[in-house]
Amino acid sequence: MPRLVAFSASTNRPSRTRGLVEAVAAEVARHRCVEVKVFDLLDAGPGLGATSRAALPLPAARIIEAIEGADALIVGTPVHQGSYSGLFKHVFDFVDPAALAGKPVALTATGGGLRHALVVEHGLRPLFGFFAAHIAPTSVYAGADEIVAGAVVDALVADRVAAAARELSLLMGAAASGRMAAQAAPAA
Ligand SMILES: Cc1cc2nc3c(=O)[nH]c(=O)nc-3n(C[C@H](O)[C@H](O)[C@H](O)COP(=O)(O)O)c2cc1C
Repeated sequence: MPRLVAFSASTNRPSRTRGLVEAVAAEVARHRCVEVKVFDLLDAGPGLGATSRAALPLPAARIIEAIEGADALIVGTPVHQGSYSGLFKHVFDFVDPAALAGKPVALTATGGGLRHALVVEHGLRPLFGFFAAHIAPTSVYAGADEIVAGAVVDALVADRVAAAARELSLLMGAAASGRMAAQAAPAA
């Protein structure tokens, strides 16, 4: 079964960011059979601050491996000082760029208000462009009033969650048929 990894760069539980990535994952699961794994920074543990991948403790190293090994990703960050959080970037600094090339990715972020809603476009999209990921055209941002107790309570955000999930599912299908075509091609 395709592995869908949702990663939330929050240290809070409950967490708006975790709620948002879980909402997208639940929508993807309505479109196709997927094995969903959700991780946050508490799962990574306190040793995440290591400066080299080799020095990461096992829980953090396993999250990096899960991100690299996933068939698709849903990423989420709380907005910190108008951008993705430092620890969000720190996690992706450990990721092998080759592992994300061509990988379907949906982008999400949450913030205290709506002032920084474009962080998904101006912060996350260029980062995953660097990785040459296949990014869902619809990204999702939710402010404090739009996601309450981990649940999306705003209709427009819910629409974007549904659109991002539909697009991610289509990208997953395209990636899978590309792999099958490559396997079926006769050796040159
Ligand atoms: C250090 C710090 C900086 C923040 N900076 C911003 C900001 O620039 N813009 C914003 O909208 N929210 C900002 N926030 C609020 C968080 O982004 C917001 O509460 C987020 O939804 C928390 O997500 P969580 O519940 O998943 O932890 C900041 C919070 C912290 C702790």
